[in-house]
Formats: sequence, structure tokens, C-alpha cells
Amino acid sequence: MLSLAAPFHIGCAEAPNRVVLAPMAGLTCSAYRRHLKSHGVGLVTTEMVSAYGLIHHNARTTEYLDFTEEERPIAVQLFGDKPEVVARAAELVLCRAMIPDMIDINMGCPVRKVVKTGAGAALLGDPDRAAEMAAAVVGVAAQSGIPVTVKLRSGLHTGDRTAVELAPRLEQVGVAALGVHPRAAGDFYRGAADHTITAAVVRSVGIPVMASGDVTNVGSALTIVETTEAVAVMVARGVAGNPWLVDALLSDGAIARPLLPEVVADLRRLLGRVVEEQGPERATRWIRKVIGWYLRPSGVAAPTIERLRMLPGAKELDEALEALGAR
Ligand SMILES: Cc1cc2nc3c(=O)[nH]c(=O)nc-3n(C[C@H](O)[C@H](O)[C@H](O)COP(=O)(O)O)c2cc1C
Repeated sequence: MLSLAAPFHIGCAEAPNRVVLAPMAGLTCSAYRRHLKSHGVGLVTTEMVSAYGLIHHNARTTEYLDFTEEERPIAVQLFGDKPEVVARAAELVLCRAMIPDMIDINMGCPVRKVVKTGAGAALLGDPDRAAEMAAAVVGVAAQSGIPVTVKLRSGLHTGDRTAVELAPRLEQVGVAALGVHPRAAGDFYRGAADHTITAAVVRSVGIPVMASGDVTNVGSALTIVETTEAVAVMVARGVAGNPWLVDALLSDGAIARPLLPEVVADLRRLLGRVVEEQGPERATRWIRKVIGWYLRPSGVAAPTIERLRMLPGAKELDEALEALGAR
């Protein structure tokens, strides 16, 4: 039986294990990626970065490209509508002082304001443009010896299996690996991910496929890997308030979610990392997203979580968490 703790390759890049942190806009900042690395993830991805933002030298967008050595191997995920724009953005990524280990193209974002511009999941409705974009980015990345990956959904509408037809075309133009989230864009995050589609994608290509969707425990991860023959699993919502999912996946379930004091200690370590990266004000807003996900499963009452979420600053929050952990 395959162990998720075994290394795997994407082109010339090696990931030390098969638990991959999926890109999550608003969440997978450098501090969060480093935090999940401390729990063992083998590969991380930035939040999706706008190709237009990069070519217009938007400072906030360019910040998304920052990462530290300890995050390697890391993929930068780009999104955009036109092949030449995304290729130009890839060029900009690859002429920076620190370049990522791979470039990922987003062909799955279902958010209306992205899809209506022709980017994200809209590319699934135009396979020619999708393949052309992948080819253009592969051409740019080849000059730096960097592999290109694509993360895609199953299709635009419920029941579509576009990913299965598109995957071989992406392989043909030089894409080194795929991340498959087998929900239709129109389904957003509703219902169960249909990993029979992931399995069909795996059968249709010779490159590695990473399975994304509903990895919530060791059992679901192993079932997905066994039934799809994907090389790795991507963790997303399942890990957002439960980084111990990564420890569990890598230890075959030997490491479990800890008791409240350690949950709180871990949340404080994450807060510290985010404060260091983003400063106390932005960090306070950022950490509010994950407080409930962290504390609810440990039995912390809703009013307590709400009170923590309302605290005005990182220092107050850290002190309140310290008190909660000592209770
Ligand atoms: C808040 C949030 C933000 C996301 N942002 C991105 C993104 O920027 N790029 C991407 O390819 N997928 C994104 N996804 C999709 C995830 O990477 C993943 O494929 C999806 O959540 C399915 O996995 P899950 O069922 O384990 O959550 C996002 C998901 C969530 C919940």
C-alpha cells in the first residue's frame, strides 16, 4: 500500500511527501504555508495571483510572490484569461531574485468575478485557449527549467467531464503534473467531490495527478489514493482549522488532534507567524477567519469564539488565547 510519507517528483522538482497544501485564496499566505510546513506538508502553493496584477506591477499582487526558503518546494499559482498575459506574468515571476520550484495555472476558480473575465474555470469552457495558455507558460518556464502544473475542476457544469478530455492535451503541450478538484465550477463546494473523474484523468495521462477534494481524514485520503491512483492528495478545507490532519496523514493515523491547550498553543504560533509577516493589524483580520475552525471542534462555545473574533488587536487576542489554553 502506498505511503503518503513517500517522496514524489513533478518534473525535476522533488516533494518529500505526498501531502500537498492546496492553494486557498485569502488563506495560503507565507505565514500559513510555513505553519503547515511545520506540520509536515510536502508541497505548498501560493494563493492564486492575478497575471494582470503582475504585469501592471501592482504592489499588493506582487507581494503574493514572496516566500521564504523554508517553504520549498513551492508553486506559484497564476490566473488570467489570455495565454500571452499569463505567459508574460510567468516571465516576471521567473526573473525575480527568488524563483519558485514550479508554476501552476488556475483553471478551476469558480468565483463569478474571475470566470466572467475568461479566467479560472472559464478556461474549461474553451479547451483550445486552455491548451494554448499551458503551452505558452511551459515555453517560458522551460527557459528556467521550471515545471508547469495545472489545477483544474471537472468542468463548468454539473456532470461535465471536461478535465478528462483536457488533461491529455495539457500533457501534450508539456504540463508536468495536474491537480484535479472533481467538482463542477457551477457546484462551487457543494456535494461530494466525484473522484471517479480524478481516476479517469489519471488513466488518460502519464504525468502525476494530485487529488483535491474532501480529504478530511486518513481514511478518506487513502481511499482516494487507492481508487484513483493519484500520486498525492491536496488538503484544503480539511486542514484549515486542523493542521494535525497533515501529521495524521503522514503517520498513518498515529498522530491525532491534540487537546485544547495544544490547539490553542498552535493557534498562537500561527498568529505569531502572521503578525511577523503582515503586522498586527492585518494579522488580526486574517486570524479571525480561522479562529472558529480551530476552536469549534475542541468544544469551545460559540459566544467565546465570537468574543475572541471581536478583539481589536493581536496582543489582546494572544492574551485571551493564553488564558483560554490555561483554563
Ligand atoms: C477559501 C478557499 C479558497 C480557495 N482558493 C483557491 C485558489 O486560489 N486556487 C485554486 O486552485 N483553488 C482554490 N480553492 C480550492 C481548493 O484548492 C480545493 O481544490 C477545494 O477546496 C477542494 O478541496 P476540499 O474539499 O478539501 O476543500 C479554494 C478553496 C477554498 C475553500
